[in-house]
Amino acid sequence: MNKKKTVLDIQRMKEEGEKITVLTAYDYPFARLMSQAGIDVILVGDSVGSVVSGYDNTLPVTMEEMLYHTRAVVRGSGGALVVADLPFLSYQIDLRDARLNAGRLIKEGGAQAVKLEGGENVAATIHAIVDMDIPVVGHIGLTPQSIHRMGGFRVQGKKEEQARQLLADARAVQEAGAFALVLEGIPADLGRRITESVTIPTIGIGAGVHCDGQVLVIHDILGLCEKYSPKFVKKYADVSGIILGGIEDYIREVKAGEFPDDEHSF
Ligand code: KIV
Repeated sequence: MNKKKTVLDIQRMKEEGEKITVLTAYDYPFARLMSQAGIDVILVGDSVGSVVSGYDNTLPVTMEEMLYHTRAVVRGSGGALVVADLPFLSYQIDLRDARLNAGRLIKEGGAQAVKLEGGENVAATIHAIVDMDIPVVGHIGLTPQSIHRMGGFRVQGKKEEQARQLLADARAVQEAGAFALVLEGIPADLGRRITESVTIPTIGIGAGVHCDGQVLVIHDILGLCEKYSPKFVKKYADVSGIILGGIEDYIREVKAGEFPDDEHSF
């Protein structure tokens, strides 16, 4: 196994101009494959709600679900740094909740860092968690937990006034002590401006090529999520067809009495 990556390695990668690779995972087998492939960071995203649990958005995901998936991912994560998402309602009410739930993802889940959504509005929360020596990743732009305010999954920061607010958000997240920042669903040029204006690494998803790293949802890049595919998703493999083929072959062989054959019987 490769040496476990730490937040210091991720910060050093920005300094040395090495792109940071991040993918989401929600279980042990995917985490193992990602670690084997050499991924830098695994994000246990609350996107689990959409791509694994079949919800329309991430809002229903609970702390208990995040803890379950985080534990499974950590067991398979090898040398990758594991970041776990704080789900909706686990950090918005008060700082005590935020600190307790961040601590649970570290203590019970085994994650090395937590991620939460928001800019200036969550700066105090980030500060409170970092103050407990828990590394935090910020997340601004198209923040899925704010889907109802945004009126859907829409690109953010297209107007200069909104872009300036996102620049202020990025600086607030950095000043609050976050060690990295996810930029989601913003114009590529704004991704560049934010990346140049902060010293912490930016990890883009639909935020252009100038970010210090990129993150995508594993089910999206493998063609496992047919419901909805945003423009920024590139399908690197089409696994659905392979899975479907295997299941159909199994059904056909059982129906025909061909399975189990002698080779698979005692
Ligand atoms: O939940 C998630 O998977 C995320 C990434 C898409 C950044 O927050």
